[in-house]
Amino acid sequence: MHQSNAAEADAYRHIDWRGDALRLLDQRKLPAAEVYVTCTTAAQVARAIREMVVRGAPAIGVTAAYGVVLAAREALQAHGRIEAPALAQPLHELGEARPTAVNLRWAIEHMRECLGDGGAAECLERLAARARDIHEQDIAANRRMGELGATLLQGGAVITHCNTGTLATGGYGTALGVIRSGVAQARIERVLASETRPWLQGARLTAWELNRDRIEVTLICEGSVGSAMRTFKPQWAIVGADRIAANGDVVNKIGTYNLAVLARQHGVRTMVVAPTSTIDPRTPSGAQIDIEQRPGGELLAAAGYAQDPAGVQVWNPVFDVTPATLVDAIVTERGIASPPDTRTIAALLD
Ligand code: MRU
Repeated sequence: MHQSNAAEADAYRHIDWRGDALRLLDQRKLPAAEVYVTCTTAAQVARAIREMVVRGAPAIGVTAAYGVVLAAREALQAHGRIEAPALAQPLHELGEARPTAVNLRWAIEHMRECLGDGGAAECLERLAARARDIHEQDIAANRRMGELGATLLQGGAVITHCNTGTLATGGYGTALGVIRSGVAQARIERVLASETRPWLQGARLTAWELNRDRIEVTLICEGSVGSAMRTFKPQWAIVGADRIAANGDVVNKIGTYNLAVLARQHGVRTMVVAPTSTIDPRTPSGAQIDIEQRPGGELLAAAGYAQDPAGVQVWNPVFDVTPATLVDAIVTERGIASPPDTRTIAALLD
């Protein structure tokens, strides 16, 4: 197992703020091509989030924060001032770009706090500083979670799902941050990554990131998770989260629930790694969380259909709910909730 190179983990500027534009690494094109999309308006940022140019809960929160700065620049250019009514529509569009990941709403609420008194130039400066701060704080939280989560590892294999690395965050990664840290400390002997249908975030993005980081990875198709648990006997299933309810229920990429059920059956422990910005104390349990449904065409395209065939219906929820009872530990930058429940989650937010 090769060592993690943390500097390399943040080397690609996938969310690159240029002062008057936001450059995003187009994650739909990886690993075949490293292509960037440049956004100069909030509407372009919302579209990039909606269409998966950038994805992953913390990454879309950071991206939306820069989108708010662009909305303010547009208001200033159009009206000579930055006032809340002019920002209402673009901020609404940004917030609605993807409904499940609570980091999006969290980031926009934090940006709103920077509107207010003072001149327009000062306000723009304040917004840009806050967006950079949200970005930097996310990287710092990931590094802290990497250290904390690695203390729970005792060697052997781990299995992860979807992409939770630099690409899914401000940098370094949540679950993948723990894996980077665990490999660097020789607490992990094998990393198993499941492919993650239909967008293949595991196969396209996690494998690409780990490969660049010179961490060996064993890619598996999702149907082989149970067999892989029997064969490789992982110690931990380590995943991220798009939203965590007040009772510790975890919403994450579709297939996480399957993974956690199989983990319990095979004596594999489940670790969820997410910053506290992913915890939604206003939502009592996973049952109240709006699960994003994406177009059926995504599944049909993955199967090679050129156009949607008549008579084939598709159910395409992109996240699922894993009950807190199936999770052994939730690792945040503020500490670990184990077992996760209403009391341990509230203590993290105190
Ligand atoms: O649909 P995606 O690719 O945005 O889904 C991403 C995930 O589900 C991740 O596991 C989650 O955002 C946590 S990553 C830090």
